[in-house]
Amino acid sequence: MKVLIVGGGGREHAIAVSVSKSPRVKKIYCAPGNAGIGQLAECVPIGAMEFEKIVAFAKEKAIDLTIVGMDDPLVGGLVDELNNAGLRAFGPRKNAAILEGSKAFSKDLMKKYHIPTASYENFDDANEAITYLEGLGEEGFPIVLKADGLALGKGVLICNTLEEAKEGVRTIMLDKQFGSAGNRLVIEEFMTGREVSVLSFVDGKTVKTMTSAQDHKRAMDGDQGLNTGGMGTFSPSPFYTKEVDDFCRKYIYQATVDAMAAEGREFKGVIFFGLMLTDKGPKVLEYNARFGDPEAQVVLPRMKNDIIEVLNACIDGKLDEVDLQFEDNAAVCVVLASDGYPVKYEKGYVIRGLENFDGKDGYYCFHAGTKLTKDGIMTDGGRVLGITAKGKDLKEARANAYKATEWVIYDNKYMRHDIGKAIDDVSSEMG
Ligand code: AMP
Ligand code: GLY
Repeated sequence: MKVLIVGGGGREHAIAVSVSKSPRVKKIYCAPGNAGIGQLAECVPIGAMEFEKIVAFAKEKAIDLTIVGMDDPLVGGLVDELNNAGLRAFGPRKNAAILEGSKAFSKDLMKKYHIPTASYENFDDANEAITYLEGLGEEGFPIVLKADGLALGKGVLICNTLEEAKEGVRTIMLDKQFGSAGNRLVIEEFMTGREVSVLSFVDGKTVKTMTSAQDHKRAMDGDQGLNTGGMGTFSPSPFYTKEVDDFCRKYIYQATVDAMAAEGREFKGVIFFGLMLTDKGPKVLEYNARFGDPEAQVVLPRMKNDIIEVLNACIDGKLDEVDLQFEDNAAVCVVLASDGYPVKYEKGYVIRGLENFDGKDGYYCFHAGTKLTKDGIMTDGGRVLGITAKGKDLKEARANAYKATEWVIYDNKYMRHDIGKAIDDVSSEMG
């Protein structure tokens, strides 16, 4: 069969690697792809938001399955467009992708169906939001402000004081720093605890979770600096215990899928549950309607199933027949970025040493922002590569991943040095 993957980041590279392992797949295309994906797939210069071109391409090449990796095209309705043209696609349709596309929608859904999450209020008017904040009193802070739409993971502000929060309302709703996502604002209770990402396959009725993972969103060591798209991940999360899993199965996962179905928004695809393990139990921080990036880079390499069979089962409503299995090991992904990311950084530097990954089992070099030029493979973004390694446990996987980060060299290479370090605290915290 012929597969088209839509997107061009580390997540799509991880998806492409899994797809390339399926014996059913004869040819992979990727729109637009990147230099790493280009080693497995034929990359075509079509942007992920160029729906007409994607549909025309899929028709022309008689693509059997299109996998939409990114949030923007899902929220924009690419799967609907493909389906309307009689093409098979993996990912939620527009009316279900709203689970990620609108935080106000997802908060209202959780409230209506009693799914545990932080308390909140939605606002369409900046003055009303400010009046609400002024009425909170000191114990109301810190407080969390969220722009309502997609904002590259950056539309969330944690405000420690009333002044900061008022400034935040202005930034989001009046200055429109995150564009039209700032037309609505969610003001949410601040929660503390460990964060865990649980990705799951969903076929409209059945939900099957993948192994857990944890992301490191801040740019600098010790969780300092600005929020980024993600600086590294590890899987599984030792904080995601059997007890937590039981709770989430009972009150969160199936409840979410059933709630979407009850609303007439049948969800087929991947639901990414962003959870906070609070002292009052697990709560939903956010939903995403796709694989996480860089969560996919540690979760997919550990999946034993043929990914095509699982994706097909989701589309056909037969996920209950799939026995989803993961390796009994661990993986760590360290993101190699361009110094200065996520604010200002230079790109266009030659990357050396990529061949060091050739033939090394259990090591992966996922490309995020790279470009093939006549001078070789160059850096072409803030997040450049995701270096993933497996190990028998997290400690070994982490040592392997950091060892492998040294195999690649480019000017202005930047990474965090404490990805997965939290696991060192596990024994002291968990006894
Ligand atoms: P989101 O895009 O909603 O996941 O938010 C991005 C990040 O902001 C999360 O991964 C958390 O680290 C943080 N965050 C979001 N909501 C809250 C909250 N209610 N309490 C504490 N931190 C939060
Ligand atoms: N790693 C977080 C995300 O994919 O949104």
